[in-house]
Amino acid sequence: MSTYPTMEEINSIAEIIKSKTKHEPKFAMILGSGLGSLANEIEDADIIHYSELPGWPVSTIEGHSGQLVIGKLEGQPVMVMQGRAHFYEGYDMPRVGLPIRVMQTVGCDTLVVTNAAGAVHPDFEPGDLMLITDHINLVGMAGLNPLRGPNLKEFGPRFPDMSKVYDRDYGKIARQISDEFDLGMQEGVYVCLAGPSFETPADLRFLRNVGVDAVGMSTVPEAIVARHGGMRVLGISGISNKANLDGETETTHEEVLEAGNVLVPKLITLVRNFLRKI
Ligand code: HPA
Repeated sequence: MSTYPTMEEINSIAEIIKSKTKHEPKFAMILGSGLGSLANEIEDADIIHYSELPGWPVSTIEGHSGQLVIGKLEGQPVMVMQGRAHFYEGYDMPRVGLPIRVMQTVGCDTLVVTNAAGAVHPDFEPGDLMLITDHINLVGMAGLNPLRGPNLKEFGPRFPDMSKVYDRDYGKIARQISDEFDLGMQEGVYVCLAGPSFETPADLRFLRNVGVDAVGMSTVPEAIVARHGGMRVLGISGISNKANLDGETETTHEEVLEAGNVLVPKLITLVRNFLRKI
């Protein structure tokens, strides 16, 4: 397995998936930490374990099941990643992006990407949803962009535009749903850090000063790869904890997973109605 996914590798994984499902998914979905139970909503589901897909990055983390669930939600054909792999688990960024390439090759033209995130914005509370309006690719700025390596021109250009990573029309639809169902969705800028250590108070004050509203360890690589390929992206953070800017509290993975219990019902309302409206 080379660091950089090739067209041959991507196509061969897509063929395996197509041979294992009768569905023709158009919507790709990634479920973040503590949010995986949304996949239980999928009807007529075909399940494929990541271990059946050579080269697919497998998550080792509690709260990430590690399977593809392909079926129908609100009558729409969806392909859901129940669990994702992260850079901090040891995967290179291009490998973290491989599932996006495969899901697009299988036929998906939209990505709904979710994550658990810490609130850097002082008004955000655990249990809030946040529409991602933009991101800061801090890890990419440091040299670890998921598009590093040979450009796959079948998907997009060497130097892709990133001025509108998160689809504005989709964002408006999400806002309407939040208003209609009183979900109280926040909106803001997400930053992906490498992890796995959580941030120091000084890290967090730095992030707040550069315009960050929520911090996590995922989503940005997947969103960049999706946009490179021309997919439309809806990004939603589930706020799982307050970021510890003053150094008085601690952040744990357990609280991140617990917040999922509050977040999942809201996310289900959002995603179901999104699929109904588009
Ligand atoms: N920091 C980084 N990643 C996270 C956090 C956090 O506070 N919460 C959930 N993922």
